[in-house]
Amino acid sequence: MAKNTRWPVKEHLLDGRPVIIRPLGADDREALVTGYQELSSHSVYMRFLGYKSGLSESELDHLTHQHPEEHLTLGIEVKEEGESRGIGIARYQLVEGSQPAIAEFGVVVVDRYHGLGGGTLLLKHLCKEARQNGICCLRGETLATNLPVLAVLKSFNPRFEPGNDEDTLMVFIPLQEQQE
Ligand SMILES: CC(C)(COP(=O)(O)OP(=O)(O)OC[C@H]1O[C@@H](n2cnc3c(N)ncnc32)[C@H](O)[C@@H]1OP(=O)(O)O)[C@@H](O)C(=O)NCCC(=O)NCCS
Repeated sequence: MAKNTRWPVKEHLLDGRPVIIRPLGADDREALVTGYQELSSHSVYMRFLGYKSGLSESELDHLTHQHPEEHLTLGIEVKEEGESRGIGIARYQLVEGSQPAIAEFGVVVVDRYHGLGGGTLLLKHLCKEARQNGICCLRGETLATNLPVLAVLKSFNPRFEPGNDEDTLMVFIPLQEQQE
């Protein structure tokens, strides 16, 4: 974990609602399962470039145990009727053997919170943590038609290359050039 980050970090959505961002822990398994069920099939497809009905036990293990030099998952929470609700996650996973270090990233926000700034906040903090853990670049594959993620990425100085399929793009976020 970046030594100078004090979790949880407090931020605000665009409508002024306070949120917190923090690494997921073992207690977050249930919230992840519930949050996944709240995603539309469109969001699942955009995130995973395919459909899947849920997260496997090993995926849940991975998402809730952090080793920031290799992988990190951050969650964003809002208070709804006094209860903390997870509304999105962002993660990176180091590409083994990459030199300089590159990590694959992904981000997803539950549909009813889209357009409120949560995706941008998650990515901002994910970039900061990745950089502080020695990662030079985040890389991800997205559909070229995924306008929301392309809009989010605009403020992260992205570079694009053709993806593995004709309808996908590989996006690279250079971390050394990000502003704190
Ligand atoms: C991509 C995603 C995480 C963005 O999260 P979000 O919380 O809605 O993003 P933000 O509110 O921070 O929006 C940032 C930008 O996206 C734009 N945006 C949000 N929803 C949009 C939509 N449906 N269509 C077009 N633009 C959209 C916002 O207007 C904003 O652009 P601006 O800064 O130019 O105004 C969310 O759409 C999502 O979970 N999608 C499904 C999963 C996915 O596609 N993940 C990316 C691949 S890993």
